[in-house]
Amino acid sequence: MEKRLAGKVAIVLGAGSGIGRGVAVRLAAEGARVVAADLNEQAAREVAAKISAPGAESIPARIDVSRPADLAALVDRVAKEVGRLDILVNTAGIVQTKLFLQVTEEEWDRVIDINQKGTAFAVQAAAAQMARQVPDAVKKAGRADRSYGKIVTFTSISGRRGREYQLAYAASKAAVISITQSAALAFAPLGINVNAVAPSVVVTAMWEENNRQKEQAFGVDARKASDEFISRIPLKRPGTVEDMAGAVAFLCSPDSDYITGQTLNVDGGYEMD
Ligand SMILES: NC(=O)c1ccc[n+]([C@@H]2O[C@H](COP(=O)([O-])OP(=O)(O)OC[C@H]3O[C@@H](n4cnc5c(N)ncnc54)[C@H](O)[C@@H]3O)[C@@H](O)[C@H]2O)c1
Repeated sequence: MEKRLAGKVAIVLGAGSGIGRGVAVRLAAEGARVVAADLNEQAAREVAAKISAPGAESIPARIDVSRPADLAALVDRVAKEVGRLDILVNTAGIVQTKLFLQVTEEEWDRVIDINQKGTAFAVQAAAAQMARQVPDAVKKAGRADRSYGKIVTFTSISGRRGREYQLAYAASKAAVISITQSAALAFAPLGINVNAVAPSVVVTAMWEENNRQKEQAFGVDARKASDEFISRIPLKRPGTVEDMAGAVAFLCSPDSDYITGQTLNVDGGYEMD
């Protein structure tokens, strides 16, 4: 595989499972040194061991993205140990699929804390470090001829419009689109690109959990609910972890230097806006 990311340092949040794991594998295959971070420390360690290469050893880390101070501390640790940060990908998240009238305040807070607040402060922590690496001449000019950092967030097709059964999740994912745009505007003068990926269905632990919750809320068979949803995707198949990782690798590569503030649907054509 072409080493488009040789010499780059990347933090992948949520690297212990599913899409994040696939992203960590792909960025490492393209030559990046990857910090594999997850709430599940054991899973982060396993991924880091799998993707470590001589000269580009992966660093495992435990992180709870709902804690802004911990995010800042992780970025500081990486800057001290490795010297820089070029890429942040945040895939950490949780789903909630439940009848609107039954969502509790505690459930709302948990989903918003992890998906929405977690994204905002992960982006803030990474951008602060990336900004420190930008040459003074670029800061003075307020424009850059190349990228000085790549940040990729994860939203969902559920962030594109409301969902009657995903009150908190859809709200948190709509917010991720807004956070991505705000960050893109804030850091464009420094040449830091910030974009989001919006998947439809990727068969991971989260998709299985979504179907389990759907079964509980509506009494529908989880497998049937999954098949029915996938049948409405124009490409007639779920996305793979590799489909997501390929899009992320593009958004982290020099090929996307002129792209910022965008939400890229990687969803088999489900949404077209
Ligand atoms: N799988 C899909 O169909 C789908 C569809 C649309 C959007 N997405 C989005 O893609 C992203 C990745 O989803 P996935 O399917 O790989 O899910 P997943 O459940 O397989 O992985 C999510 C990872 O996030 C970690 N995590 C959860 N809470 C955390 C916290 N507080 N701090 C740090 N890590 C935490 C989990 O431990 C897990 O390793 C999510 O943001 C999700 O909303 C997924």
